[in-house]
Amino acid sequence: MLSELIDFLGSLHPLIVHLPIGILLMTIGIDFIMRNRNNSTVDKIVTLGWFLSFLSGFWAALFGWFLGDNNYYFESQISIHRWGGIAFVGLCFFVWILRYLNFKYSTTFTQLFNLTAMVLITITGHYGGEMTHGQNYLINNLPFVTQEKTTHISEEKRAAVDSLFVFEDLVYPVLEEKCMACHNQKQSYGGLNMTSFEALLKGGNSGIGIQKGMPYKSLIYKRVSFPQDHPKFMPPAGVPLSYDQIATLEWWIDNGAEKQIPVTAVRKDPKIQRLMELQYGLDLREKSYLETLTLTPPAPSDLEAINGEKFSWRFINPEESFLDVKFTAKKIENADLVNIQQVKNNVTWLTLTDCRLTDNQLIYLANFPNLTRLKLQKNPMLTNKGIEALRALENLNQLNLYGTRINDAVFATLGQMKNLKKLFLWNTRVTPAGIESFKAQHPEVEIIAGL
Ligand code: HEC
Repeated sequence: MLSELIDFLGSLHPLIVHLPIGILLMTIGIDFIMRNRNNSTVDKIVTLGWFLSFLSGFWAALFGWFLGDNNYYFESQISIHRWGGIAFVGLCFFVWILRYLNFKYSTTFTQLFNLTAMVLITITGHYGGEMTHGQNYLINNLPFVTQEKTTHISEEKRAAVDSLFVFEDLVYPVLEEKCMACHNQKQSYGGLNMTSFEALLKGGNSGIGIQKGMPYKSLIYKRVSFPQDHPKFMPPAGVPLSYDQIATLEWWIDNGAEKQIPVTAVRKDPKIQRLMELQYGLDLREKSYLETLTLTPPAPSDLEAINGEKFSWRFINPEESFLDVKFTAKKIENADLVNIQQVKNNVTWLTLTDCRLTDNQLIYLANFPNLTRLKLQKNPMLTNKGIEALRALENLNQLNLYGTRINDAVFATLGQMKNLKKLFLWNTRVTPAGIESFKAQHPEVEIIAGL
């Protein structure tokens, strides 16, 4: 009962503090404007003003003391505010007593008292504002002040998104900044210590901190997502969590709240992925093999080998290291395949269509480490047997076998090609049933069969 009353009075503090500010400014204003008139009524009004400043200041300070006593503020933040306020009340009382007792003092002293009171109320008010609205609240909303991104991720880490973890890199640093001053081993308000993963899950006096998979049953999440004026809102002092930080915390709990969830796991939720990309400056798109690859450009002498009439080629990247090579003659010879070998590291796309390619010749294609697209369509002599040689193409992503003589048995080979994403099988001997059963095992592969 008593503690509830004290809490209630404490909550009146932010309201009452405006009274002494207003009264003091008015008193000093009257004193200043009327200073040259020797008028005893004005004098009495000014004395009354100092008294009312003292009286309202006294209640504001007392209620403020109640409010500060609930542990909801950092001691370091509160002390200037607290002692500034008390000094102000003391000064008002002192000036009032001097005037009340008709103690004569020079105008220099009057000016000194006025100035000191103004300085004290400015400092006290400013620190009070910082506690309620957060540090830098005065300048934060100015149009030319750029809001700093709430990111604790270094440039280096940002470049290697694959090695980032949701808890360690996104959740923990925020809790560290905004909660741990009051929830650590030494000082654990509410019995809650947040400095370790285990302690965080365990929670405080009122129970489980984080319920895996259930944000709305997790006290940590609940407390930060209350409306800000809710008495249980966390953090009670300082800057609240931003929308993005709360969303990240929610996603992490929702997805199991494990320590080792990689940040790239958000790719399954495009909305949160977008939010993280914007908020933390991360590029979370899936990278293709070529995007992660740097190659040295081919030597001009090596390019000679494919400069003849039978080939056309071009670079597909500005660095001139990835080659797209096409065979353009009607019939391919072993010698032509040997020529392409000269630039085998640089060939990323290769087209050998309608050139009477045979199964035996496919052996020449087995050692193209960076080949990602291969077009072999309209070579009716090609069968399952030849395709087996292509298993060695580890980075092959697209394969066109349209118009060849392959059948369902080819899937045994294709199933072993880990990076295959797209297959063209139109006009071959594969059957719809064969395609269905392959798709069931390899849903990541898109099949264009035109059946
Ligand atoms: C300025 C100090 C302070 C800061 C900062 C702070 N808290 Fe608290 N917290 C408290 C106090 C005091 C209590 C106990 C009273 C209560 O439950 O409201 C508490 C209680 C809690 C509880 C309830 C524990 C229990 O089991 O009863 C949770 C959960 C909590 N805080 C979460 C947070 C989170 C999350 C943050 C950071 C966003 C945070 N706190 C920041 C002071 C603080």
